[in-house]
Parts: sequence; structure tokens; C-alpha cells
Amino acid sequence: MDLSERYPSLHVSPHPLVAHKLSILRDVGTDTKKFRELVRELTWLLGYEAMADLGTRPRTVETPLEPTDGAEVDPRVGLVPVLRAGLGMVDAMLELIPTAQVWHIGLYRDERTLKPVEYYNKLPDAATVQVCLILDPMLATGGSSAATVDILKAWGAAKIKQVSLIAAPEGVATLSGQHPDVDIHVAAVDRALNEKGYIVPGLGDAGDRQFGTFAGPSSEPGHEPADETAEVVRRLQRDLQR
Ligand code: PRP
Ligand code: URA
Repeated sequence: MDLSERYPSLHVSPHPLVAHKLSILRDVGTDTKKFRELVRELTWLLGYEAMADLGTRPRTVETPLEPTDGAEVDPRVGLVPVLRAGLGMVDAMLELIPTAQVWHIGLYRDERTLKPVEYYNKLPDAATVQVCLILDPMLATGGSSAATVDILKAWGAAKIKQVSLIAAPEGVATLSGQHPDVDIHVAAVDRALNEKGYIVPGLGDAGDRQFGTFAGPSSEPGHEPADETAEVVRRLQRDLQR
């Protein structure tokens, strides 16, 4: 199944450096410090691609020799990291676009139901940016992303893009199904979700690998899934086959 044909909003980076760095990121032997560096480098490359269609307005620049035609980015851009794992993507994006505003959204995924639970949102009443880039390394069921888009649309954001490192096909289907207008930029789309809702082959838990918070076997990706969780995953996989 060619997902990019089925979901025109999906953009998988074709860049060899992205493939190279992603392979090291996935490696179970990559330590926390290196993992964070790679998240930052991959975000830089994906962010460059995701912002390729930003509008510009003309601006005259004085070089040391003479005036010349220049350009400046026109829309106000908001970066929306989804806590926690999206935090590691912020600095690279701010290097690319230092004028961007950063609006944090706190969501975690309930382990049993895989549904997103919101715990932090300080958005003001009306949107202060025109383009929002949601930053979250993993697009698994798509629940966290779709919920974030709902929040941003209700806020009044005119254009929304999702920037993730790895997506599962189930997550792409969920997000594109609910929000076909949202561009999805990723380094790779993996095979599937496992019964615990982790992306396989994936990279494990992106938050834990960035922040070194390994709580033990019961919370690890491969551990015995709850029946309820596995049923949620099976339902998403049936939806994808339709
Ligand atoms: C992870 C990830 C996404 C979410 C993706 O966060 O960073 O936010 O899961 O899953 P979904 O597509 O199925 O919603 P997690 O809930 O582990 O929180 P954390 O970043 O605080 O560890
Ligand atoms: N969140 C992660 O960090 N990893 C996954 O594989 C799925 C959700």
C-alpha cells in the first residue's frame, strides 16, 4: 500500500541524511545524549522541508555595496510542542525560525485506552499565529495529534502542519481522516502498531529515550498488553484496511 498516494497530506522525507540519522536514532544502543542530538538534527531537516511553502513578502536590504531585493517570511508561525516528547524538537525549529512563538500543549496517552488526556494548555483566547507546526516525534494511533489539531482549530489557527519523526500507518489514517487539510511531515512511516500501541519497528518510547526515564519492564514497549489496549489497536487496523 502506497500511503502517500492514499493520503496526499503525507510527506515522507526522501533525504539520505534523514534516513541515516533515523537509523542511528532507532538503534537500541544509542544513548540518551546521542538520542537527543539526533532528534534535534532530524527536526532541523524535517522542519526545513515542512516550511518550504511559507509565504514571503518583499523587503529591500542595504548590502555594504547597494540596495537589493530581499524577502522575509510573511505568516506568523507558532511551534506547538506536545509535552513531553515534543520538547526536544523545539530548539532546532527555533534555529530555523527564531521569530516563531512557542505554545506548549500537555497531553499524555492513557496506557489502557490509548486516548489522549490533556493536562496543559495556556493558549490565549484568539490565535496569535497563522501557521502552527505541531512537534511530536511519534504519530502512533494519531489520537494525540488529532486532539492537538482540534485545539488549534478551535483557537483559530489558519494552517496547521504536523512534524513527527516516525508515524504508524494507523496514525496517518486517523489524522488524515479527521483533518485532511493538515500536512504531515515525517522521516518514515513504519510497519504497524503493536498490541500496546507502540510503533514497530519504531524506536521505543520517544519521551523516555530523550529524558532517560526508564521506569522498568512493566512500562516498556514490549510488555504484556491490556486486552482493552489490544482491542483499540485492532479496531484502528480494521479501519485502515477499509
Ligand atoms: C507519546 C508521543 C505522542 C503520543 C503518540 O507521548 O510523544 O505524544 O505518545 O501516541 P498517539 O499517536 O497514539 O496519541 P506519551 O503519551 O508517551 O507522553 P510523553 O511524551 O509525556 O512521554
Ligand atoms: N509513543 C512513543 O513514544 N512511541 C511509540 O511507539 C508510540 C507512542
